[in-house]
Amino acid sequence: MATNLLIQMLIFIVTILFPGIRRVEADIKTWTADTNFNNPRLWDKGILPCPNDRVIFPSSAAVLTFMPSKFTFAELILPIDGGLIFPEDVEIVLTEGEEYGACKAKDVYFKTPVDYWYNSSNWNITSPNVFPGLPSRKNLAVPHGFRVPCHTDRVHFPMGTTFKVHIDFSPTSVAYIQVNGINYVSETFEGLLKSPTGKLLFPNNPELQLTGAECTDPTGCYCGNVHPKVMSHICSHHAVCPEIECSDSIAVIGHCCKICGVILLLNYNTGFEISKLMELNRRYLEKPKFRHVESFTAKIREGLIQTVFIDSEIEKGFANEVSQLIHDAILRDISGPATYKVRSLEMSKSEAWGHQVPGQFYSSGGVTSGGAAAIIIFIIAVIGIAAAVYIYRRRYIPGFSFARFDLHSEKIELELGTTPHDELQPGDTPEAMRTIVEDEKAEAFDNPAYGSCDLPVVLESSQEENIIENPMFGIFEDATSHEKS
Ligand SMILES: *[C@@H]1O[C@H](CO)[C@@H](O)[C@H](O)[C@H]1NC(C)=O
Repeated sequence: MATNLLIQMLIFIVTILFPGIRRVEADIKTWTADTNFNNPRLWDKGILPCPNDRVIFPSSAAVLTFMPSKFTFAELILPIDGGLIFPEDVEIVLTEGEEYGACKAKDVYFKTPVDYWYNSSNWNITSPNVFPGLPSRKNLAVPHGFRVPCHTDRVHFPMGTTFKVHIDFSPTSVAYIQVNGINYVSETFEGLLKSPTGKLLFPNNPELQLTGAECTDPTGCYCGNVHPKVMSHICSHHAVCPEIECSDSIAVIGHCCKICGVILLLNYNTGFEISKLMELNRRYLEKPKFRHVESFTAKIREGLIQTVFIDSEIEKGFANEVSQLIHDAILRDISGPATYKVRSLEMSKSEAWGHQVPGQFYSSGGVTSGGAAAIIIFIIAVIGIAAAVYIYRRRYIPGFSFARFDLHSEKIELELGTTPHDELQPGDTPEAMRTIVEDEKAEAFDNPAYGSCDLPVVLESSQEENIIENPMFGIFEDATSHEKS
C-alpha cells in the first residue's frame, strides 16, 4: 500500500515538475472470464441454480467464487479447497420446500473453468489507440496478439469479481496489475502469489513479472506478443477461424485469422507521434455515418504503424470508405505540410463481399459496476428462520477454507477450515455432520500452527443482522480498507 502511494506521489511530482513530458495513456487489458457465482458458464447446464436446488461444488473445485448479494438455495456442498466471497449486505436464504414453485429441486453442479491468459477471448481492451474507446470492450479490429496484454500494458481484474487464470506461457510480463481495485507492483504481487488467495487466483506458481514500465515512447510501443513464438501460442487458442463474408480477405499483422476489412500500413519519420495520428483517425471515425466502424492502431516495429478498420454491422463498406478518407488525408499531408511525419503508406482492403449475413446491432448492455463494489470480509447473516451460526475462527488457515451449512437441523454450521469433502456427501444425517465438526474442532485446538485458537463465536440470530469478520480474504479485505481510507 505504502509503496503504491509513494509511486503515485512520485508520478504526480514528476508531472508537475516536467509539464512538457506528455503522459502517454496506458493500454489497459481487462480480464473478462470471471468465476462469479452468477456467471452461467460455471454451471453444468449453463443455467444458474434456482432457490430449491442443491448447489454442488465438486471436491476438486479449487476456485474463489464471488457470491451474489442475495443467495437462496436448499443445500450447499463445498469443495475441499476454495473460497466463497460474500459481498457486504449479503442475504442468505435457505429454502425448505415449495416456496418457490417454479424451481424444481435438483442438483446443480459447478464446473471448474480452465481459463488461459493467452486466450485472447478472455480480454477486453481500453486504449487511446482503439476506436470506439471507453468503456473497456472487445473490439473486432484488435488483432489477437494485441488483445492479450503486452509488456507495457496495465492489467485489470475488475472489482467485485473473482477469477482463476492459468498463465500458459513464460516469460510473461506486464507493467502493472490491478486486482479488485488494488494496484500491485512487483513486490506486493509476489506476496499475493504466495498467499492462499493468490494461489487460487493464479494457480501453478506462474512466472509473471510486473515491470512497472509503461509505454513512454510517443511513437508507440512494440507489443512483444507479435513475436512468432508468442503468436503461435496465442493462435493455438484460435485453431478454427470464423467464416468470413468476403472473397478477398486480408492478412493482418498480429491476427490469427484473415479478415474482411482494411489495413493501412505507414512508415514514419522522426518526430512522428501516434497520438496525432489517432486525432486524425478520430476526426473521421467520429462521424455518425461511421459509427459502426471499429479501428485499432499499433506500432508493429520501429518505423512501422498498422491501423485496422473493420465493419461491425450488417452494412458493409463503411470501413473502406472511412479508411480511404484517412488515407487521402495522410497523402495530402505527406505532399504538403507534413504535420504527421509520415513517410509513406500502403493500404489493403476487402471489397468483394459475398452474401451479406444478417447480423445484429450491438445491444449496449449497461455495465453495472456499482452494486457489489464494496467488497466483503463480512459474512452477514440476515436470516428469517431461527438459526444458529457457529464460526470457528483461526488465526492462520492453511490452504483455503469453506463453509458448511447443515439444513436438517435448525442450525447453520459454518466451519472455516479444510473440510473433508467425502464426508460431506449429500444425504449426510445431521448427526454425522456434527461429528465431523466436533472432530475438526478438536484438531484445530491441537494444532499449534493455528496459534491459540479463538473460541467459537456463537450467534443466535433471528431477525437481527450479525456481522462476523472472515479472516480469509486478505486481498478483498485490503480493497475495503483501501476504499474507506
Ligand atoms: C467486455 O466488453 C463487452 C463488450 O464488448 C462488455 O459487454 C463487457 O462488459 C466487458 N467486460 C469487462 C469485464 O470489461
